[in-house]
Amino acid sequence: MHDAVWLNAKLATMAAHGAIADGAIAATQGRISWVGPRAEWKDRARTEHDARGAWILPGFVDCHTHLVYAGNRAHEFELRLKGASYEDIAKAGGGIVSTVCATRGASETDLLAQAQKRLNRWLAEGTAVIEVKSGYGLDRDTELKMLRVARRLKGLTVRTTFLGAHTVPEEYRGRADAYIDFMRHEVLPAAEGEKLVDAVDAFCERIAFNRNQTARVFAAAKKLNLPVKLHADQLSDLGGAALAAKHGALSADHLEYTSEQGVEAMARAHTVAVLLPGAFYFLRETKLPPIAALRRSHVPIALATDHNPGSSPLSSPLLAMNLACTLFHLTPDEALAGFTINGARALGMQATHGTLEVGKAADFALWEVDSPAELAYAIGANPCVARVIRGCP
Ligand code: NIG
Ligand code: FE
Repeated sequence: MHDAVWLNAKLATMAAHGAIADGAIAATQGRISWVGPRAEWKDRARTEHDARGAWILPGFVDCHTHLVYAGNRAHEFELRLKGASYEDIAKAGGGIVSTVCATRGASETDLLAQAQKRLNRWLAEGTAVIEVKSGYGLDRDTELKMLRVARRLKGLTVRTTFLGAHTVPEEYRGRADAYIDFMRHEVLPAAEGEKLVDAVDAFCERIAFNRNQTARVFAAAKKLNLPVKLHADQLSDLGGAALAAKHGALSADHLEYTSEQGVEAMARAHTVAVLLPGAFYFLRETKLPPIAALRRSHVPIALATDHNPGSSPLSSPLLAMNLACTLFHLTPDEALAGFTINGARALGMQATHGTLEVGKAADFALWEVDSPAELAYAIGANPCVARVIRGCP
């Protein structure tokens, strides 16, 4: 006897089963306990739901966000429209550092209220997992405060990533190496001590940290047995993708300036490519990530919103999929895989999320569309009619 079953559904399993035109999916104790064609469903369930012909997809996995922060950067948007670049603004003391100021000044309660409110948009669009980074604290208390807030978010599964190496804060200006040591020796161990960290990330870029500093952050993560990820090659080719691969990173993210060699290194290391079309669009970047090389080398491509106040104030997985198709020429199928199976891979969660398969979390969403491709096609529509989390509608 299963707890619940959904009948009269079309299933996009994102797994070996592919699409099932007339399917059934059952949940028991929060996990998928049966999935297949309706005609083969012979079991019974305590509750029967009529999906009314909706498509059921795995709950979306947004594997790269900076959801917790205070303030906004609308003013910088205006400056960029007048010709200033993202790097100019950062070098003049704006950018990430201005969000750091606002976030340091906000209470944990306020940060939580703001982030939880933002999160409603993801919940409404069928999201089951969201990754949330620190990195707007850059001091011990605020980094921990951000991670605590992330852990307290409600309505879906949250994965936290420590991004202490996001940029050099004012008080360490000109002393990036000392700052990295502070993060490695004090802040990361303190965050890990409170069990606030699921992975470690860094921003390897001209306006942030070099390869050597990034490698030292990775070494500290390794010591604590934490997986790593990297903001790699977003504004210039610093060899970030290859560096991430060398350290066995779960993912390398952005990748606009990544070389063929970088892609090959990622393929060998099974590092997932996380593409972030929101940042590409909002910064009016023109250099495309190496999509053809990623496909050729069979590097799994994940997509994410990269939600943050500076480079990607995007709160919609659906719009991110549309942008990935229009700007990066991904197919709708690739975009859907990017927010399901490959998003899960980028977080090391493929055993529990990303597909509709027996044993995985019963986290899925019902969509009133004729085909899953419509999710990547429509702009600004939200055809999500229900979300099921751990088997509960
Ligand atoms: O992913 N690139 C670095 N970090 C963010 C931007 C952060 C910000 O500008 O506040 C990103 O684009
Ligand atoms: Fe980011």
